[in-house]
Amino acid sequence: MPSVSSQSARTQGTAATDGRPYLKIRYDTHEFPFVEKVKSIMGLSESSLALLGDGSEHRERWQRRNDQASQWHRDFYDRFAELRPDYLRLIAGPVRDFMGEDFYYQAVPTFRVHLPRNVAVGEFHTDGQYGHPVGELSFWTPLTRAWDTNSVWVERNRGEGDYEAVEAAPGDIAVFNAVELRHGNRENTTGSTRVSFDFRCVPTRLYSPGDSVSINTGMKFEPGDYYNANMMAGSTND
Ligand SMILES: [Fe+2]
Repeated sequence: MPSVSSQSARTQGTAATDGRPYLKIRYDTHEFPFVEKVKSIMGLSESSLALLGDGSEHRERWQRRNDQASQWHRDFYDRFAELRPDYLRLIAGPVRDFMGEDFYYQAVPTFRVHLPRNVAVGEFHTDGQYGHPVGELSFWTPLTRAWDTNSVWVERNRGEGDYEAVEAAPGDIAVFNAVELRHGNRENTTGSTRVSFDFRCVPTRLYSPGDSVSINTGMKFEPGDYYNANMMAGSTND
């Protein structure tokens, strides 16, 4: 599995890949109630996140300039403080177990909504195109079932365009090398909205300071800015 690497992937066999461009790690949805909390933030406590929007709210196909601009995105970021304790426990638990070494992690994850007949991300790309550092891994965390055209498509081999849809559900985190493998969305024809968040981690041994900034947040890819403080392998999150 050349495109995803971490201490854990090599030594623990966290997930079988079967030739897929991503690994899966698991977390307990009761211990980490992201779905319930995001439902509450979105005002959908009695319903499913898969019913968030039916595509009629945003008939125009989302582009890179506006794929983070909906009211749902604003609500998520405005109220992220409600999720932060769970997010930090996720980083300090399953994610740290996977990484198996010291790493930096994205301070605030990126929220995605993939409406029917639309996309969640404006274009196919590698994160490397946007200045993300080589060695960084993406942790793609669905809050609804993700399959076929409501999921993210990732190429199996770098530069080949041989895309495959990530198949995952709440409790899964799909880990892939978004810096070097092209990925993106197709028009969602499943009839089901996909809601997810994703975040990036980079081993401290691979990180080198650069001038690049995040396209979404304008923050530098540096500890204390885009990344949070060093998560030490084997230490508590304090
Ligand atoms: Fe990306």
